[in-house]
Order: sequence, then C-alpha cells, then structure tokens
Amino acid sequence: MFIPRIATMSYRIGIVGATGLVGRTLIDVLAERAFPVAELGLYASARSAGSTLKWHGQAVPVHELTPSAVEIGYDVVFFSAGATVSLQYAPLFAAAGATVVDNSSAWRADPTAPLVVPEVNGHRALEHQGIIANPNCSTIQLAVALKPIADLFGLERVVVATYQSVSGAGQRGLDQLSAELCGQEPSVRISSHPLAHNAVFHPIGNDGWSQEERKVMTELLRILELPDLAVAATCVRLPFFRSHAEAVWVQCQHPVDLPALTAAYQQHPSIAVCQEDYPTPQSVAGSDQVWIGRMRRDHFDPRAILMWVVADNVRKGAATNAVQIAEYLHHHGQLSRKQPSTSGVTL
Ligand SMILES: NC(=O)c1ccc[n+]([C@@H]2O[C@H](COP(=O)([O-])OP(=O)(O)OC[C@H]3O[C@@H](n4cnc5c(N)ncnc54)[C@H](OP(=O)(O)O)[C@@H]3O)[C@@H](O)[C@H]2O)c1
Repeated sequence: MFIPRIATMSYRIGIVGATGLVGRTLIDVLAERAFPVAELGLYASARSAGSTLKWHGQAVPVHELTPSAVEIGYDVVFFSAGATVSLQYAPLFAAAGATVVDNSSAWRADPTAPLVVPEVNGHRALEHQGIIANPNCSTIQLAVALKPIADLFGLERVVVATYQSVSGAGQRGLDQLSAELCGQEPSVRISSHPLAHNAVFHPIGNDGWSQEERKVMTELLRILELPDLAVAATCVRLPFFRSHAEAVWVQCQHPVDLPALTAAYQQHPSIAVCQEDYPTPQSVAGSDQVWIGRMRRDHFDPRAILMWVVADNVRKGAATNAVQIAEYLHHHGQLSRKQPSTSGVTL
C-alpha cells in the first residue's frame, strides 16, 4: 500500500469515504490548515478502489474499506461514509487505538461518544472513549451562533427554519439537481419531488417531524448542555448547490442588548457579522466561518431577537468541524494512537 510520508508531519490519518463530498473536502481542509499529517490512507467503497485523490500534489490511491485497514495503526480516522459503515467500522478502529471523528449520524446520540463543536463544547472531546461524533451540518452553525447568546442573556426558546442546499445529501443531491436543471431524468434521487424550482422536505416520519428536524432539536440540547431548552425546527431543502441558511428566532431569559451581542460576535474567531449586506448561501460557499446577518429585535418581546445564519455545510458543517476537533485534541496532547483495547472487539 502506497502512503506518502512527509517528514515534518506527525499523525497517521485515515479517511473513510474519501471520495465523497465531505471526504474530498476533509483532504483539502487538512492541507489548507497544515494539519500535521505523517501518513494518509484513503478508503471508499469497492466502486472507487484503484482511483486516486491528490494530497499536496501527489496521487494517493483509494482503497476499498476492508477490515485489514484497521491493522495499519492509524492515530486518527475521519469517517464520512454514512451511518452503516460507521457503525460497523468505527468501533474496530477505536479498539485498535485510533481516535475516530465520525461525520455520520451513527454515534450522535450515544452517551459514550461526545458530540462536539470545538468553539462551543470542545472540552467534551477530551472525554472521548475512542469515537467523537461530528454534529449534523444544520446543527453546527446554529450552535456556534447561539452559544454567545446563551452566555450573555440565557436561552429560553429557539425556533429555526432551515434553507438547505442539495449538497447536504451528498453527491446524489448534486446529481439530481444538476440533471433536472439540464432537463434530464435524474439517475439518482434524494427526493421523490423535483428539486429544481422547488422547495421540499426531508422524509417526514409518522410523528410529523422529519429526521433532520429531530437531529437539530436533540443535538442542539446536547451540544449547548441545556437539556430544558425549547427548540422547534422546520427543515427545508432548496434548489441551490452549497451552504445552508437558517432563519432563527431566539427568546432569552434576559432582555437582549443587541450592540453587546454584535460586539461578542465580532470578537468570535469563527463568526463573521454582516452589517451592511446580508450573507447568502452563494456568498459564504468555501468559507469556514459562520455568517450572521439581519440581526433585529422582536417588536413584541425585548428578550427576543431574529437573525439569519449561513454557513458552508460541507466545510464548517462537516469537514472543517471534524478537523477542528482533531486540532483541539492535538493542542491538548491527546491525539496519538492509544494502546489497542483488549475489550474483545474483533475483526
Ligand atoms: N454533505 C454534507 O453536507 C454533510 C454534512 C454533515 C455530515 N455529512 C455526513 O457525511 C457522510 C458523507 O456525506 P457525503 O455528503 O460526503 O456523501 P457522498 O458524497 O455520497 O459520499 C459518500 C462516501 O461514502 C463512501 N462509501 C459509500 N459506501 C461505502 C462503503 N460500503 N464502504 C466504504 N465507503 C463507502 C463513498 O464511496 P464511493 O465513492 O466509492 O461510493 C463516498 O466516498 C454522511 O454520513 C453524511 O450524513 C454530510
């Protein structure tokens, strides 16, 4: 197996789902942020075996994920290949001593796997037992925007409507919308409704809520560590390719001082405030920041404000957040491979 070695770097990194939207972006983000990578192993399904992806200009082969990958001895393995693959393989890599950062929904409700947005609850990453869950893309940007409000005024209730790009559903979302915009019949679909010129929901359950809405509502409470916070979400998919926007109404425990909140946002390393104009999905695509605009008071309640929160779902909503989790552990000296577990997890 060919793995390029870069003498000045230090961790053995694996990426599962490397050929996907998030996986390819993980490779870009690791390179852009000069993450200390000593070795890089790329994995996907059998469909991609034999293809290559670029790392610092070198072609790195993509391998079919099989149990033999676990034996290589990675320090960190990023997963972005869906929940089924994560459920099967993440415990194996973790038992072999790797730290797993998982982008799927597989471990987000598991109390043994911290659910982490580094700017909000990074300290929880230090408590991991091998697997750290990256939250849902819609939740990450909302949690970043709400944390300063929680700290300044206390949170009581949040009502959010999402305006989500088709890339949130991966390559298949891009393919369905691209085909429809060209007047072709899509070969794959993420929705039985047309995406082009339309507004559609994620599949809706028997209880009337979509899985995406449930993820936002439950994950937010866990990340903010506010189990009694009242949250209601309506998640909508719209026909653009990149970034998610959110219209957010927030009711606080105390009256909101808008200039104080604006100042807190302006000092925040991951937040960009738009005061002249407003952020759009197109204008923030490719950015790692969470963009906030249209902040305004609720005329009927001095404790309530409204805002518009936009972020790149594939970067801050997935790949960048995952790399920031690894950076957090690296800065706390907790990223090297652990001794393999003897708890009986077998290949
Ligand atoms: N897109 C987003 O905005 C976003 C945000 C947050 C979280 N996520 C989560 O991240 C994960 C990946 O999303 P994505 O958007 O990157 O999807 P994607 O573009 O469809 O990519 C899926 C990746 O998984 C790989 N894969 C599929 N089956 C596999 C198997 N049996 N073994 C190994 N690899 C397999 C695919 O490999 P092949 O190319 O060989 O098929 C591909 O690399 C999902 O769990 C998703 O929920 C996505």
